[in-house]
Amino acid sequence: MVSYKELGLVNSRELFKKAIKGQYAIPAFNFNNMEQMQAIVQACVEESSPVILQVSSGARKYANQTILRYLAQGAVEYAKELGKNIPIVLHLDHGDTFDLCKSCIEYGFSSVMIDGSHHPYDKNVELTRQVVEYAHKYDVTVEGELGVLAGIEDDVVAEHHTYTQPEEVEDFVSKTGVDSLAISIGTSHGANKFKPEQCTRNADGVLLPPPLRFDILEAIEKKIPGFPIVLHGSSSVPQKQVAIINQYGGKLKDAIGIPEDQLRKAAKSAVCKINIDSDGRLAMTAAIREAFATHPEWFDPRQYLGPARESLKELYKHKLVHVLGSAGKA
Ligand code: G3H
Ligand code: 13P
Ligand code: ZN
Repeated sequence: MVSYKELGLVNSRELFKKAIKGQYAIPAFNFNNMEQMQAIVQACVEESSPVILQVSSGARKYANQTILRYLAQGAVEYAKELGKNIPIVLHLDHGDTFDLCKSCIEYGFSSVMIDGSHHPYDKNVELTRQVVEYAHKYDVTVEGELGVLAGIEDDVVAEHHTYTQPEEVEDFVSKTGVDSLAISIGTSHGANKFKPEQCTRNADGVLLPPPLRFDILEAIEKKIPGFPIVLHGSSSVPQKQVAIINQYGGKLKDAIGIPEDQLRKAAKSAVCKINIDSDGRLAMTAAIREAFATHPEWFDPRQYLGPARESLKELYKHKLVHVLGSAGKA
C-alpha cells in the first residue's frame, strides 16, 4: 500500500471548497500516457491551475497500475521542476466496483469515483457507501453519481439522458457520505453528443445544441447548498480539430460537443469539477494525422507525438483560461 500523500498528491476536498467559493471549476483531464501527462502538467504550471489527473478503468489496464503510480508521482515532481508546486489529484474515473476503488487507493489514488448510476437507487446507495467507508479511512475523497448520461461510458450504452432527480440528491448525499456528486443535466460522453436534427443554426450557420438543463442544476443546488457538483461529458468538440482530422483522412461525422459558454456558466455555479477527455483525443489525433500526411517520410514517434503534445497543451491552456476559470488559482 502506498499513500497518495507520500507521492505528493492531494485529495479534492479543499480544491472543491475554494472552487465553489471562487466560482470556477477544477479541470479533470483523462490521461493514460506520458505525453498526455506532460501536456497537462505544462499547461497547468504555465497557467497556475490546480488539476485532477483522471484515469478510467480501461486506461488503468492500458497503462498498468504500477506505471500509473509513478507517472502521477512524476507529474508532481515535473511540476516542481517547471517551477510551480500546483495541487495535483489522482482520481479514478467511473470506478464500477468496490474492489477496483480499493485497489486504486492501495496504488496511490487520492480520489475515486464509484459510479453506481446504472444500478437501482438502493444498490447505488449501498455500493457508494461501502466505498466511502473504506476511502475515508485513508483520507481519500469519493465522487458518486445520480442520473445517467446519454452515450457510451466504458461498456455501458444509454440511448437517452436520465436526468438527475433533485428530490433524490439530499437523501443520497446524506446516506452515502460522498464528497461530490456527478449529475446528469444534458452532457454526454464522446464526440457525438447531439444529432444535427436536435440542433438549431445561428446567423453564421453554426450549429447550436440544446442548452444544458440549468433549471435542474439550480433545483439540485437548492436541495444541497454548497455541495460540490461534477459534470461529466463536457468536451466541446472543437470543429477546427474535427476539420483537420477529416481533411487528413479521418471519418468523423456529426461530431458535436457542449458549447463553451454553457460550461463557463456551469463553472460559476456549484459545479466545481468538469471532465474533459474527448477534446484531448481529438487534438492528439488531428496533430498526428496532419504530421503523417504532411511528412510521410517521418517514422520517429517523437516527430509526431511532439506536435501532438504541443497541441494538447494549447487545448488545455485554453480550457483553464477561457472555460473553467481555474487559471491563477493554484
Ligand atoms: O467517461 C469516459 C472517459 O472518457 C474514459 O473513457 O473508458 O475509453 O478510457 P475510456
Ligand atoms: P467527454 O467525452 O465529453 O470528454 O467526457 C469525459 C468524461 O466525462 C470522463 O469521465
Ligand atoms: Zn465521465
